[in-house]
Amino acid sequence: MDKLSTLRAEWPQIGLKILGLGHALPAAGPVPNSYMETLVDTSDEWICSRTGIRERYFCGRQTNIELAEQAAAEALARSGVKAEQIGVCLVATFTPDRMSPSMACMLQQRLGLPEDSLMFDFNAACAGFLYGLQTARQCLLAAEPGRSYALVLGSETPSRVLDFTDRNTCVLFGDAAAAAVVELSVDNPYWAVCGSKTDNENMLYCSGLADQQQGKPGGVVHMQGQDVFRFAVDIIPHSIEQVLAKAGLELADIDHVVCHQANNRIISHVVKKMHAAPEQFFINLQHYGNTSSASIPLALNDMWEQGLLLPGQRVICVGFGAGFTWAACLLTW
Ligand code: ACO
Repeated sequence: MDKLSTLRAEWPQIGLKILGLGHALPAAGPVPNSYMETLVDTSDEWICSRTGIRERYFCGRQTNIELAEQAAAEALARSGVKAEQIGVCLVATFTPDRMSPSMACMLQQRLGLPEDSLMFDFNAACAGFLYGLQTARQCLLAAEPGRSYALVLGSETPSRVLDFTDRNTCVLFGDAAAAAVVELSVDNPYWAVCGSKTDNENMLYCSGLADQQQGKPGGVVHMQGQDVFRFAVDIIPHSIEQVLAKAGLELADIDHVVCHQANNRIISHVVKKMHAAPEQFFINLQHYGNTSSASIPLALNDMWEQGLLLPGQRVICVGFGAGFTWAACLLTW
């Protein structure tokens, strides 16, 4: 084996540890299904039975960067890591306040992160946070001494890109931000898979500049719900199995599974398909709706606040989103 291959062979042994989590929800408070009934022809009964969602948050005048800053500050405070120790700041979002500068650059200024750190936004839709953990680990492997920590966020304001006359989409999403401070660790094994496949770009998308040039509205979510459902119930078990195979473990060895919180019925379908125990799968989407890239770190944050995450436990996170992107990782708490 040449020198590079020898060094690379040791990389998988370097795991990732989450040191602190934080979150932010719009200050206006939860918006119940009864409010959505006043906007479109829908009902609490329909939304609950088809999705499990009871309420969500909309940011109103609050901005995505305000949510991101609050979530990041909480994660930093809980981790005990100082802003000046951050070597990498990654923000997963498909709803930045501005197309440029990036939210990560705005966080640099707001939080006082080192000016010579790597920071950028990226869009992997609802799989974004898991893409972020994977990328942060790789960046930390090459980080300067003294910059051993990464800040990874999923921060979204889908309410800015919803058509509030389209009942197919507007009842599903909510705004939120969540953040994690992570470091490399040999005591916390981490395994991950990421992927992307685009058969049909129109199955789930948010329109943009090119759409506007063609006279269509820009910045609006479009979705073919049943196709997304079919994709989700196929890719979630597949990516969980892939990550388990990498780690040499079985589903029974896992303490918690945290799926992207899009829809109760998707998660129930996966539980059945995998012959899993329902209590292994954490669900909090009833309170927040689908918060895209924020959904997985928001779930981890809730679990941590509820005392559900104990040292040594194994947690699988699995996400999927527009693209389609997908990702799964196995974290050791
Ligand atoms: N209230 C009342 N009726 C509704 C609503 C609503 N909010 N939305 C759709 N309907 C109607 C439709 O118009 C349709 O009426 P019709 O039969 O008269 O045409 C009827 O309900 C059935 O529509 P379907 O799309 O077949 O409903 P379905 O049972 O598939 O449920 C849903 C729709 C919940 C979107 C489902 O397809 C689903 O869960 N898909 C997964 C997509 C998802 O979770 N996306 C989240 C974002 S994607 C992501 O996070 C990656």
